[in-house]
Amino acid sequence: MDALSIIEKKRDGEILTQDEIEFFFWEYTAERIPEYQAAALCMAIYFQGMNVEETRSLTLAMAASGDQMDLHNCVPPGTVIVDKHSSGGVGDKTTLVAGPIAAALGLPVAKMTGRGLSYSGGTIDKMESITGWSSELSEIQFQKQLRKIGIVLAGQTRTLAPADGKLYALRDVIGAVPSLPLIAASIMSKKIAAGADAIVLDVKAGSGTFMNEVGEAKVLANLMVDIGKRVGRGMSALISNMEQPLGRAIGNALEIKEAVESLRGNGSPDLMELVYAVVAEMFWQSEQGKPTISHESFLAEIDLQEGFEPPTPEVRACIDEAISSGMALEKFKQLVEAQGGNVKEIDRLERLPLAPVIQPFAANSAGWVAAINAREFGMTCVELGGGRKAKNDKIDHRVGILLKVKVGDKVETGQPLLELHASDSQSAVQALVRLSKAIIISGSAVEPLPVIHGRYR
Ligand code: URA
Repeated sequence: MDALSIIEKKRDGEILTQDEIEFFFWEYTAERIPEYQAAALCMAIYFQGMNVEETRSLTLAMAASGDQMDLHNCVPPGTVIVDKHSSGGVGDKTTLVAGPIAAALGLPVAKMTGRGLSYSGGTIDKMESITGWSSELSEIQFQKQLRKIGIVLAGQTRTLAPADGKLYALRDVIGAVPSLPLIAASIMSKKIAAGADAIVLDVKAGSGTFMNEVGEAKVLANLMVDIGKRVGRGMSALISNMEQPLGRAIGNALEIKEAVESLRGNGSPDLMELVYAVVAEMFWQSEQGKPTISHESFLAEIDLQEGFEPPTPEVRACIDEAISSGMALEKFKQLVEAQGGNVKEIDRLERLPLAPVIQPFAANSAGWVAAINAREFGMTCVELGGGRKAKNDKIDHRVGILLKVKVGDKVETGQPLLELHASDSQSAVQALVRLSKAIIISGSAVEPLPVIHGRYR
């Protein structure tokens, strides 16, 4: 077996065997296959796709490219460890709000998380706005922290799904992110390796994510739920809207501020609707107990259920209480402190990085907000320095955009639509030119966008 013939086979639209997939990705992880050949295979997969069996084999090969964690000695016997992951979006700080709420309510949250990918932000980049905070934890540190405070946010390590670590960074700079099999394998390999019993996925659809259409997001959700169930994980996938940025802030430090404000009870309605749904799903998974795994269940037909009910009044009341009592915010502060961050910056948000140039942008006509192009907002944030264009680019945590309106809002001429945070006036001017075309005001009334399109379990 050799790398070139595997690349050629996929280039020509043939189906790869499990052995070929394992060979290629394990040799790549061991650095015996160079980056340019991995880039070529990713591009071939991007154009030719993979069938369900190939995607499953790729996921399991990537999960097995390093260690698999067993977290059960970190929690009381019988406790279900629940993980949460988003398929990527603009302004998506859901993890930073839902994670501490869930942990405050006694659900252990053990999460392996990522950096920004293209125009989509990453939890690690956001958390690194806090002085000293680090995502680099050894397996022992990860387990100790989970035992002690019930929440961990760790980055990809050299030992956990390292194939995804390498591939994720490569795909970002070769234009091979929006591929259904590559996204499914990337997300599910790290979730499987990180050892949670149940996984709640937030699969986004719209201009600010890699799946533009709700239909595509549903296919991705189905695929990931199927893969997870086959390897004995409890699986839920919410399909959520990413046509406009989520919440109000886009940009690393700005999103930390918004997450903290949300934990103080001042969250924006769209963000909080998603947060409540994610936490409710985590609760539901934890109530189901640990799923079982057998050779038969790996091969069996998987039963998928579609539907969505908003959280029950009991679950809502628990979440409300976690926020109003300050317990969820306290959990976030514990998470910051445990990973070396300066907690004083959370108590005094003005101490977080702040851009030197702040410019408002106002509506030049009255009407209703008809569209806020999430991708353009994400790309503008990257242009301002808040994301990466090359693998080793440094992030400017200060920059970003604060939205003052959402789709469906009525606006008057001169009313502020957004506030731009930039490192200098020149980049601010360029960003405002771009953003002025990304918000559309209509003369007739527009309905607000739905937050959640559906759910698979
Ligand atoms: N999130 C991931 O972890 N991987 C992807 O490929 C996309 C989003």
